[in-house]
Amino acid sequence: MLQIDLISIFPDYLTPLNLSLLGKAQERSLIKIAIHDLRDQTKDVHHSVDDTPYGGGAGMVMSPEPWGKAIDAITNEKDQVDLIILTPAGKRFNQQMAMEFSKKSHLIFACGRYEGIDARVGQYYAGKNNFKVHEVSIGDYVLGGGEVAAMVIIEASTRLIPGVLGNPESLKEESHSISSDDLILVEYPNYTKPANWRGIDVPEVLLSGNHGQIAKWRLEQAERRTNQLKQE
Ligand code: ADE
Repeated sequence: MLQIDLISIFPDYLTPLNLSLLGKAQERSLIKIAIHDLRDQTKDVHHSVDDTPYGGGAGMVMSPEPWGKAIDAITNEKDQVDLIILTPAGKRFNQQMAMEFSKKSHLIFACGRYEGIDARVGQYYAGKNNFKVHEVSIGDYVLGGGEVAAMVIIEASTRLIPGVLGNPESLKEESHSISSDDLILVEYPNYTKPANWRGIDVPEVLLSGNHGQIAKWRLEQAERRTNQLKQE
């Protein structure tokens, strides 16, 4: 069972995690998701979680103290933890990372807001031998916070856990689409009934029943699409 904890100042923003595939995966005890409010770790009347940056500059930085308390409250020394800090300055998330995260036992997502979390939080936990810290970005754009990024990573990673997908065959096909040089091919185009829709026919080969020809056509299409994307 994969334990997933998320820490955020907007816990309600993360409620879609209880729907659909992830909701079912929790019911089947394949994963367990817990959402924590960072403000629960503050004592002042305003429940403040940020402060002005040392060195000056615009915006606010999230204070290390509530983060340390929140992470300590959900871990112990025996626990092997992967702490994922969402930041546009992190390593770009991809399918290979999803595969890696899907095999872990305890993921903690630190969803920062404002100008990010005090850098010592990552540094402190990286120095503990039961922690591995990953700074991750989901793309070259700046979101308002890490919540949506965490949901993207959780959705991509958990569907790779055996039993989470209703039809495991679809995973097999995806893994087949990794070519010899480890390049991940995008999927070939898909069609369903009717065979003619608004004057457009489904490609003939897909109606042929010739599985060899179909597989060859699909691979060609996937390669063509992948090359096209690379050139854009
Ligand atoms: N927080 C703000 N922007 C982000 C991004 N692109 N990826 C991950 N976390 C973020």
